[in-house]
Amino acid sequence: MKLLVNIDHVATLRNARGEGYPVPTEAAIICEEAGASGIVFHLRGDRRHIKDEDVAQLKNAVKGTLDFEMAATDEMLEILKKTKPDLCTLVPEGREELTTEGGLNMSVVFDDFEERVFPSIRETDIEISLFLNPNREDINMAFELGSDAVELHTGTFANATTDEDRIEELKRLKKAAIQIHELGMKVNAGHGLNLENLPVFLDVVPYLNEVSIGHALISKSLFWGLPKTVKAYLEIMSIYEDVK
Ligand code: PXP
Repeated sequence: MKLLVNIDHVATLRNARGEGYPVPTEAAIICEEAGASGIVFHLRGDRRHIKDEDVAQLKNAVKGTLDFEMAATDEMLEILKKTKPDLCTLVPEGREELTTEGGLNMSVVFDDFEERVFPSIRETDIEISLFLNPNREDINMAFELGSDAVELHTGTFANATTDEDRIEELKRLKKAAIQIHELGMKVNAGHGLNLENLPVFLDVVPYLNEVSIGHALISKSLFWGLPKTVKAYLEIMSIYEDVK
């Protein structure tokens, strides 16, 4: 199981004052030195955190897996192909949202992904992951498209306010992980994971290939520093499976 650190909010802090620091690429280097297997960034259409210059810098600096999270617009597909990361995670993107609020609605995007998006990315050797809710039909459609991976949206689990809701969502996530694995796709997961809920999640959900963690990790690092924070996540992960 690999830890990929999402460094978007290092850019959020930088952009809050319009200064040149903190530099997302510096954070990426420190995370990898502390043992993270790679880095995730989301280049949004409105460039609210990561900017185009960051993408080029990250491509040069990141040694492990580089995961380019993006909406499937023509503009992003063009930048993706120039950047040539290892992985492209396709997400829905809404202008008003504070963060990615849910998985892709596959019945809405299926035809467009089949005709425009997948053929375009398949001209490269970039792997494709689709960010989905733990929903049987959506996962079947990801398989039909030939996706390499599915990233399970863990936000509903992370934000559950009762044990009952948390347990119900964990059951859905477990079922979805088994389905994704049995269909031969990689199982990734992310959104809202933190030091408290990660052990609960890992205790139940099998076959995980990568977890992508951003906001809580970057926030904790303000007090602990990035190396100590990354290592704390890796230690939790190592209890459940060898961290690869
Ligand atoms: N995975 C995806 C697809 C996301 O959109 C995000 C948020 O940018 C994350 C993982 C990381 O979520 P968080 O910042 O809550 O850890």
